[in-house]
Amino acid sequence: MIDEKAKNWTAQDVVLLKYVGIHPVVVHGGGPEINKAMEKMGKKPEFVHGLRVTDEETLDIVEMVLAGKINGDIVSKLSKFGGKAVGLSGKSGRIIIAKKKIKYIKNEKGEEIAVDLGRVGETVEVNTELLEILINNGYIPVISPIGLDEKGEAYNLNADTVAGDIAGALKAEKLILITDVDGIMDDINNPETLHRKLTASELKEMIEDGRIKGGMIPKAESALYALKHGVKSVHIINGKIPHALLLEIFTEEGIGTMITRD
Ligand SMILES: Nc1ncnc2c1ncn2[C@@H]1O[C@H](COP(=O)(O)OP(=O)(O)OP(=O)(O)O)[C@@H](O)[C@H]1O
Ligand SMILES: [Mg+2]
Repeated sequence: MIDEKAKNWTAQDVVLLKYVGIHPVVVHGGGPEINKAMEKMGKKPEFVHGLRVTDEETLDIVEMVLAGKINGDIVSKLSKFGGKAVGLSGKSGRIIIAKKKIKYIKNEKGEEIAVDLGRVGETVEVNTELLEILINNGYIPVISPIGLDEKGEAYNLNADTVAGDIAGALKAEKLILITDVDGIMDDINNPETLHRKLTASELKEMIEDGRIKGGMIPKAESALYALKHGVKSVHIINGKIPHALLLEIFTEEGIGTMITRD
């Protein structure tokens, strides 16, 4: 989310949710900012099927930008609107235990090959203890998607995936994914094809038949994971709509796409 106004609306809404007794936990990404920082340092961002190839130097930049800059900015904004935000990374209190992610892709001959993405990880386990302590004492945890493995090695994780993993582990009522489109569409060039409601199997079908592409894939997969692990509904909303978060939660019809179990 780059837009300054959108950041303010979201921060105001998160603080308001906390005031009314809902317990938000914020997980953030920061792809565009990481790319900018890499370019400034003379490194070219590289991706394999949407996943950032992360060498040691890139991991340092990822941590600086995510856990340093963006996390701090979100904490500042939430504080400005009266929230007691606590900035954390998945390393803190071993919230996210990760392992190296091996990505399999098909080569020209159609054979599956493993690609080494470097320090890209996936979640093995979420420890909710620290989060629960904070949540129950009036704090809003703000988490950057970095995890540690058993040996203490750090990994860069996908923010959408981590949000689903944490929502599942906390048995959250809702997982809300904020993006730059109104929700899930059959055709991204035709807003009239927006789905207001989807079931998990309808969503799965849209991934399989290719209607869901690119950056929407990790969101859809994260949605399916969260629903399977006890989250009641997943919402995909457009952060550019003023107070999208409140509108989605407190109006009957909502504004984005709501996904529920079959
Ligand atoms: N079926 C679909 N419906 C809606 N959007 C889709 C669909 N398939 C692909 N998309 C794309 O997914 C994008 C959202 O994911 P994207 O990763 O680009 O954004 P983000 O996760 O919100 O931000 P960022 O990754 O840049 O931090 C949309 O802008 C849209 O182009
Ligand atoms: Mg994305």
